[in-house]
Order: sequence, then structure tokens, then C-alpha cells
Amino acid sequence: MTRIPIILDGDPGHDDAIAWVLANASPELDIKAVTTCCGNQTIEKTTYNTQRICTLIGLHVPTAKGRSCPLVSAPIIAPTVHGESGLDGPALPEPDFDLVPMTAVELIAKTLQESDEPVTLVPTGPLTNIAAFLIAHPELKSKVKQISLMGGGVQFGNWTPAAEFNILVDPEAAKIVFESGIPIIMAGLDVTEKALIKPYDFERIRALNNPVAKVVAEWLDFFYQFHTQLGYEGAPVHDAVAVAALIHPEIMDMRDLYVQVETEGDFCKGATVADFLGVTGKAPNAKVIMGIDRDAFADLLVEAAKYYNGEVAK
Ligand code: BDR
Ligand code: CA
Repeated sequence: MTRIPIILDGDPGHDDAIAWVLANASPELDIKAVTTCCGNQTIEKTTYNTQRICTLIGLHVPTAKGRSCPLVSAPIIAPTVHGESGLDGPALPEPDFDLVPMTAVELIAKTLQESDEPVTLVPTGPLTNIAAFLIAHPELKSKVKQISLMGGGVQFGNWTPAAEFNILVDPEAAKIVFESGIPIIMAGLDVTEKALIKPYDFERIRALNNPVAKVVAEWLDFFYQFHTQLGYEGAPVHDAVAVAALIHPEIMDMRDLYVQVETEGDFCKGATVADFLGVTGKAPNAKVIMGIDRDAFADLLVEAAKYYNGEVAK
């Protein structure tokens, strides 16, 4: 099987962590590097969480810390959703490896330079590192095959009525990414609010009883606790959709659309505005995921958790 080389970039975060559990368990994917960004919590906390997640799941690839703040805007964090640590809930192992002594941008550049084939970027936090990389290394743009990102929403927001968290935190970075000309797969709220993992799925995962599955079930418990107060029937595991889109696009509905990012405004800062009727005359710049087979998505996460039983070969 030809594996898709990818770089994971995120701000874990419960759903980032589950996205990485899925990526690491997927034989279709070849994780070349991991980079961290600030978002759900400070860069110190998301980086420490990254090291603990990678230790738990046995993912030992070059890992680097990203920028401590967005390109222009002041940082926003999300302790109400992910807790003070950025990944509250189950105890995690202490890191068993060191970060590489380079920045996230340098590691992304090095990974692309050394790769024989174009690499797919999978950002599941604010797009700060990706934009900073594109600014610093325009010569490497052709080495990026595509960007499968979690961010935005062409119908509604979650941090403001118009804006989704990842895009709102660093709209200038998002604008650079959407205007880069690199093919984009956008797992925004349009789909991720439908990617609900329900309590009976948590139990299917918990019942596997391996160390990773047990932690994933507890992450889901924690993440669901916040969402249940808002009336959700499950936990929207947003970030895992950006990974699933690479391995099982057939369980999703995608629409080619031209998407612009609003960087200013009293009400719409951070909005991702899609041209549904073609009024701009611009060619689509993103495959926007609008729907998903929820049951198939849940099954995918359960299967991924089985990988950590040690019975599923990669
Ligand atoms: C996004 O914001 C973060 O809290 C999640 O990790 C996800 O990437 C959802 O809006
Ligand atoms: Ca995230």
C-alpha cells in the first residue's frame, strides 16, 4: 500500500488527541512529523500535551514547538472546553522523548525538503504555523500536496455566531492559507457538528480495555460533559474529521467552493465565507465537507482504538 505522508499540526485538545490516535492507527498514513500550535491552551501546555499523547500512543517522530502567539491577533484560549491543562481528564504518561531543537516552521520545512514526494499537512488548530511556514518558505509550496484542516464553517460559528474557534484565533493566518493556492480540504463545523460520538460509542471503545482505548473513552467523557450542558447528544470530535477525510472520503459529502476569510469586522471576524452561487467568479479553493456518515465515522474511531490492542497490523 502507498502511504500518504503527513505532518500533524495541532493544539491538543481532546479532539486533536483523538485525531492523532486515529492517524497513528491508520495504515494509509505515514506521519513524518508533529508540530504544535497555541489555541486551546498556551503553547507550553499544548506542547506538553502533545508529548504526553505521543508517548501514550507510541508515536515517536520529530516533534517541534510552534509559535507562542497568532500572527497578528492576541491569543484566545478555550479552558471552558478543554480544561486548565488543555487536556483535562485521565492521567497521562510523562513524555518519554524530547522535542527537536528547531521551531515548528523549521521542522515543517526540513520534512518537506527531505521528502521525495509532496506531503499533506493536517492542521487541527489555528493555522499560525502553516501560514508562518508559507511566508518563510514560498519555495517549498510545491512540496505541499494538500492541506486537510479542521477550521471554519460556511454556515455558522461556534466561538461567535460567525466564526469557528481555530479561524477566529488567527484569521490572518487562515487568510494566507486559503489564498495560498494549495488544495484544501475543509472539515469545518458544517460537518464536524454532525460528527457526534455518542455515549454508547464511548462504551464500545472503553470495552476494548487497552491503555489507549481507556484514555480515549475518558477524553470523550470529559469532552461530552461540556457539550451535554449545551444539549448535544454526543461529543463532536471535530479534529478527527480532518484525518478521516484522507482515509475515508467516501463517507463524506464534499462541495467544491471558493472560501474567503474575514479578518476584521464587529460581527464577522474569523468567518469563512463561501461563494455558493459563484457570484465572485472565482474558482473553488477548497473541498468543503458538508456531511458525514456518522455511524461509519464512529466505527472508524472504534477500529482505530482496536489498533492499540496490538492485534491489528499496520
Ligand atoms: C476546534 O476548536 C478546538 O477547541 C478544537 O480542538 C477544534 O480544533 C473546534 O472549533
Ligand atoms: Ca484543535
